[in-house]
Amino acid sequence: MSSLDKDLALTIKYDKDYCLQVFAPMNVAFTKGKGVYLYDTEGRKYMDMVGGIAVNSLGHGNRELVRAVQTQAANLIHCCNYYYIPGRSELAYKLCRLSFADKVFFSNSGAEANEAAIKLARGYFYHKGQNRFEIITANMSFHGRTMGTIAATGQEKFSKPFAPNLPGFKYVDYNDIEQLKAAVNDSTAAVMLELIQGESGVHPADREYIKNVRKLCDEKGILLIIDEVQTGVGRTGRMFAYENYGVSPDIMTLAKGLGGGVPIGATLCTNEVATGMKVGDHGSTFGGNPLAMAAGNCVLDQIMDKDLLNNVGQVSGVIFDQLQALKDKYPVITSVRGMGLLIGIEFDGTVSSSGMKEALFSKGFLVSAIGKSTIRIAPPLIISQSEAKKFCKALADILKSQKKRPLQLTAAEGSRNEEAIKEAIVKETGVTISSVDNNELE
Ligand SMILES: Cc1ncc(COP(=O)(O)O)c(C=O)c1O
Repeated sequence: MSSLDKDLALTIKYDKDYCLQVFAPMNVAFTKGKGVYLYDTEGRKYMDMVGGIAVNSLGHGNRELVRAVQTQAANLIHCCNYYYIPGRSELAYKLCRLSFADKVFFSNSGAEANEAAIKLARGYFYHKGQNRFEIITANMSFHGRTMGTIAATGQEKFSKPFAPNLPGFKYVDYNDIEQLKAAVNDSTAAVMLELIQGESGVHPADREYIKNVRKLCDEKGILLIIDEVQTGVGRTGRMFAYENYGVSPDIMTLAKGLGGGVPIGATLCTNEVATGMKVGDHGSTFGGNPLAMAAGNCVLDQIMDKDLLNNVGQVSGVIFDQLQALKDKYPVITSVRGMGLLIGIEFDGTVSSSGMKEALFSKGFLVSAIGKSTIRIAPPLIISQSEAKKFCKALADILKSQKKRPLQLTAAEGSRNEEAIKEAIVKETGVTISSVDNNELE
């Protein structure tokens, strides 16, 4: 327990004084979690529909995960890759048995998993003696924050201040196979895609598109990298989202949900692609460490033993049904998108994402705001149907009060008048607002 655990004001002050200001947190700090609930410094309870951005797959305070991490920490937290690591061998075996893959490289985050994927694709052609290096990615994609992954990310806002961008990336519109075909040339090494673009608003790929991408890659001898950092490990109701599409990638990246909160990244590939890395070509001090491996093994075991994929499917069905009914009733909801427990709810111009996030917050529900008009939910995979219904009911109550007296949040937001936004929400919902930010980035 931190000495600041009960002192929100000092926590905020020290953050502002001593942490690099790259985030815009809400004025709240959580010090305890149980199941799908988080508790703040004042002991207030919130339903966590953010799930640590699709990380807390087993929820908070999961007994088995806590025990696995505690036991491993007591035995051995870290040794290093000079030696064999039993937990690493075990997790690699499990991941390969569960997926298309034959080999795994472990790292500590999604960005690192993607860095390894990019290097692997280039290394594959290098070791074959072919000069193919270009990676084609999608506009509005998100692949991480390192120099390599901001270059892979098809959104200039993430890389502009850090120019020059790493060369060797090309961007095409998502779900447009003709653009992709036109972009391929003799230098193309790989196509790298998310199956649901999460960061830019939860946009799933079309099934036909992904099938055609796979076909194109096969025809041209190009590798298909699927970034499942957010969609992997049960999030969509299948262990991996690619299973929903009836195709397999050559390389897949995982992170977030695999550790249930303990940092981990994984890059999976076929034996053929694994020829792209020789001893010494890549590495990581912490990657594959015993602590993270214990967490990863426990998460996979729990997903299988507790039939969580089935739970995701059932709860997802409930949420989509209820959100669809809300959309039919309240035209301010313009779209409900996603798969499994990764869902985006988009509103028209009268409701801003930050306003809705705040309104839900004040009722004890956490969601993330993406862009001006979409909220995203990615709750723990253990969420029950009745908990999901409580969330939908809270959203319905807000929409009902908003119907009577429309929240004019966007005008205030347009002028970036945060106080006006807060006031408007307080007036309409009768609740106090902690902070308003325009957008939450990954
Ligand atoms: C699809 C995708 N790829 C990569 C990343 C980067 O992962 P990390 O933040 O663990 O580096 C994210 C993070 O949100 C993501 O959603």
